[in-house]
Amino acid sequence: MRSVIKGTGSALPAKCVTNAELAARVDTSDEWIVERTGIRQRYIADETETTSSLATAAAREALAAAGIEAGEIGLIVLATATPDHTFPATATQVQAALGCGGGIAFDVQAVCSGFLYALTTADAMLRTGMAKKALVIGAETFSRILDWEDRTTCVLFGDGAGAVVLEAQDVGAAGVGDGPGILASRLHADGAHKDMLYVDGGPSTTQTVGHLRMRGREVFRHAVVNLAEVLGEVLDEAGFTAADIDWVVPHQANARILDATARKLDLPPEKVIVTVDRHANTSAASVPLALDVAVRDGRIKKGDLVMFEAMGGGFTWGASLARM
Ligand code: ACO
Repeated sequence: MRSVIKGTGSALPAKCVTNAELAARVDTSDEWIVERTGIRQRYIADETETTSSLATAAAREALAAAGIEAGEIGLIVLATATPDHTFPATATQVQAALGCGGGIAFDVQAVCSGFLYALTTADAMLRTGMAKKALVIGAETFSRILDWEDRTTCVLFGDGAGAVVLEAQDVGAAGVGDGPGILASRLHADGAHKDMLYVDGGPSTTQTVGHLRMRGREVFRHAVVNLAEVLGEVLDEAGFTAADIDWVVPHQANARILDATARKLDLPPEKVIVTVDRHANTSAASVPLALDVAVRDGRIKKGDLVMFEAMGGGFTWGASLARM
């Protein structure tokens, strides 16, 4: 039994904010942001747009692409660090909006690695028969937890959502790398690094939502090392080498992290899907958003071998290899 990606979808807030617009609010410049990060613009939710509304829009697109009715979905796993409410889980609000109550729905919290954690969890649950069809969603409104006075962080993030429909399929006697589906995944966490990337509020501590705080340089260093390592682990497990990969869909934190990781693996940059220029860092939404962009513009096709990877607060990190 394998979990096969049957469709993808995404959603962005209506409002696009350019670097020049940010430079009018904080002491920064388009040149600094582009040179250090590759980011040119980001989408920012207004008060009518929430994590669940973006997630629901992305889920509807993914269902339409898969040709699957919402009522067939038995499992929703939603990755977010910016839920609509402390509880209930945003996944349950998406389930209600889609009108498919009764199945399993819950959130996972692994910040920017959230989609990898959600995908791996859903894959395991489908393969053990807990459900037949699942929605895996990454959705965030990071604009709500940014300190808009802090130029070192507020220029880096954006809002959005991405979704995939997974279906459990019997691939029969297909070899390890043949046939569609998720072939191998690895997840990691190391809680010793909390102070490098965290939110300084929460229900059990300050009773406030808090703001994102980051030591960017240290995060950058850890990201390149951890990502190269986990990509190697997943390739080994699936019996492939980097040369076999058709596309890498990485977490979109920073163009320089993407370049450095590709160089470490000897991967040509044209195999790396890049959306950080348009979307900035949308945390758990960035991998499924980038996947949907590349599926819709025709780059990622059926049969392609695609590597997903991400690293985020915690630290948490992970990678997953799938045949489309
Ligand atoms: N505009 C202008 N100047 C700025 C800005 C800004 N927006 N932000 C910082 N600076 C200044 C700093 O104050 C510093 O000035 P100083 O030298 O006078 O002290 C100078 O620019 C250099 O600052 P550094 O932080 O050393 O710059 P660096 O080259 O490391 O780039 C960046 C910063 C872009 C944050 C980089 O470290 C990075 O990308 N790190 C990874 C962070 C990341 O992607 N986090 C998210 C990944 S994990 C996740 O997604 C949750």
